[in-house]
Amino acid sequence: MTAATVLRPHAEQDHAAELAALAAADERAKPPNWNLSPWAVVEYLLGGTLPDGTVITPKYVGPRRLIEVAVATLATDRALLLLGVPGTAKTWVSEHLSAAISGDSTLLVQGTAGTSEESIRYGWNYARLIAEGPSAAALVESPLLHAMRDGKLARLEELTRIPADVQDSLITILSEKTLPIPELGTEVQARPGFNLIATANNRDKGVNELSSALRRRFNTVVLPLPDSAEAEVEIVSRRVAELGTSLQLPAEAAELSEIRRVVTVFRELRSGRTEDGRTAVKSPSGTLSTAEAISVLTGGLALATHFGDGVLRPHDVAAGIHGAVVKDPVADRAIWIEYLETVVRERDGWADFYRAGQELS
Ligand SMILES: Nc1ncnc2c1ncn2[C@@H]1O[C@H](COP(=O)(O)OP(=O)(O)OP(=O)(O)O)[C@@H](O)[C@H]1O
Ligand SMILES: [Mg+2]
Repeated sequence: MTAATVLRPHAEQDHAAELAALAAADERAKPPNWNLSPWAVVEYLLGGTLPDGTVITPKYVGPRRLIEVAVATLATDRALLLLGVPGTAKTWVSEHLSAAISGDSTLLVQGTAGTSEESIRYGWNYARLIAEGPSAAALVESPLLHAMRDGKLARLEELTRIPADVQDSLITILSEKTLPIPELGTEVQARPGFNLIATANNRDKGVNELSSALRRRFNTVVLPLPDSAEAEVEIVSRRVAELGTSLQLPAEAAELSEIRRVVTVFRELRSGRTEDGRTAVKSPSGTLSTAEAISVLTGGLALATHFGDGVLRPHDVAAGIHGAVVKDPVADRAIWIEYLETVVRERDGWADFYRAGQELS
């Protein structure tokens, strides 16, 4: 499969050239079964220029130390837990880490309230099981078992949504690095290179807490929201440009001024005050994450391309912002209108956006 034939290539497909260049330039020691040294993995995530001039694009924008800790953890016997509010790139970082370390980001289990032990350990092909009895051929391996066998990284999304008893089936895997298969009288012992990256967000309510037994087997890295508006504008413009290319939307039409505007609105509503610190604003119920800012702009780009004059205008982003902010039709709407009237209305150069916002509400 090439990048052009699928809607969303895996990280290792999308960045195959960068990964190959890093591997060629990488002279440092690699942990067993790793494709790259820890240094090269961090380079891949944060970007840089190789001695031969190859440019590695940054995937993650944020503190270097966090990524170093994450990568170093994966070289130990502890698993990695990426924690943070929604939209802080937990899934994104986990995909890129597995692409760089194992060359395979697809060994993924999605955690839900309905995740069963089978999807963490193994299941059976029942037709075969009934016809032939338990055999290795009738066994359906989970992505985790597969990763253990091949010495790769497995990914577990939304760990805290998984019921506590099912979570506990991870304890043996993580401490003994072994998965017994009593039906076959065998076990699978993980090969070097195996480890687990789990993600969890600390905002969702009603999730299952991690048991302390399991928590001890993870090193937790908390991914923060971007600390400055410039950093957030950089993340958003980069991702909008990449997504625009893959969706064949003219990303150059995404004016920096509109990106700044969306980021400013999101940051102000999220933090509860205007950027100059002068005015307090109320925060709506939604998260207004960086990820959501990216969607608002991509959506605006589609509106501008198909229904506008091809350039992103204030009214193309206003609809998306309104949708992202007003999750609760009563309380959030009031907050949005108050923000429009007290902040947007007074701001220089924001008159078009104010009008567009007013029409929508
Ligand atoms: N600091 C950052 N650096 C680079 N990209 C970022 C950053 N923060 C957010 N993003 C972008 O946000 C998008 C969404 O991130 P992702 O889905 O990984 O969030 P998440 O933390 O897993 O959220 P959720 O808790 O909802 O699952 C990605 O496209 C990613 O590129
Ligand atoms: Mg996620």
